Amino acid sequence: MPPDQRGADAPPPGPPPADFGTLHRVRAGLRRRLGLSVTRLRHPRVTFGPLCDVRSGARFTVARGAHVTIGAGCVLDHGFTLEATGTLSIGDRTVFGHHCTVAADDSVTIGAGCLLGELVSVRDHDHAFDRSDVGILDQGRTTAPVVIGDDVWVGAKATITRGVTIGRGAVVGAHAVVTHDLPAGCVAVGVPARIVRMRDGGPLSG
Ligand SMILES: CC(C)(COP(=O)(O)OP(=O)(O)OC[C@H]1O[C@@H](n2cnc3c(N)ncnc32)[C@H](O)[C@@H]1OP(=O)(O)O)[C@@H](O)C(=O)NCCC(=O)NCCS
Repeated sequence: MPPDQRGADAPPPGPPPADFGTLHRVRAGLRRRLGLSVTRLRHPRVTFGPLCDVRSGARFTVARGAHVTIGAGCVLDHGFTLEATGTLSIGDRTVFGHHCTVAADDSVTIGAGCLLGELVSVRDHDHAFDRSDVGILDQGRTTAPVVIGDDVWVGAKATITRGVTIGRGAVVGAHAVVTHDLPAGCVAVGVPARIVRMRDGGPLSG
């Protein structure tokens, strides 16, 4: 049927989602709920929304007084690592591939419905290194908030550095290092990340 004759309730074009059967779904659902209950007990300083899927090897290092909120239905794949001494907030239905790291000394905000590929790193701090007479290890850290809007897709192994804001619906290519703000709806790639096009075909901005 041509697209313009499809009803409003018609499924989107493309292959149907994989279906592994009812038993698989029930088992996976039970495992998720049980796992989340255990995770909540083990990490009382983190607020998990309902139906979060926290996979094996996830690590949460949260200082007393830090505020960490993870929205409903988020997926934190194997080896997810979270470190917080400040405020860290993740919106509903955001998905992290395996071995992502999110670290907040000051403030990291990640929106809803975001997709972060494997091994993505998001940090709001750097080690200070202005002095040459003191070891870098002993110079403390420089921090600035990171904000990632809703519906952002970050490709595998990308790094988001301190002080960066990424606008809603932006796409960041695999292996990019994002050192400057990116506007909503852009596609940015490379090291440092540069905008290559706007998703809506509009003129480049930012
Ligand atoms: C960025 C991406 C989404 C492609 O977006 P696109 O708008 O279709 O971009 P194009 O393929 O048209 O490429 C535009 C330009 O950027 C370059 N480019 C694309 N992806 C790049 C990347 N990750 N790093 C560096 N350059 C890249 C292309 O070579 C092209 O350059 P050219 O014009 O000089 O030939 C894709 O390349 C990518 O990186 N996907 C991430 C995949 C991933 O990590 N998945 C993990 C699972 S969530």
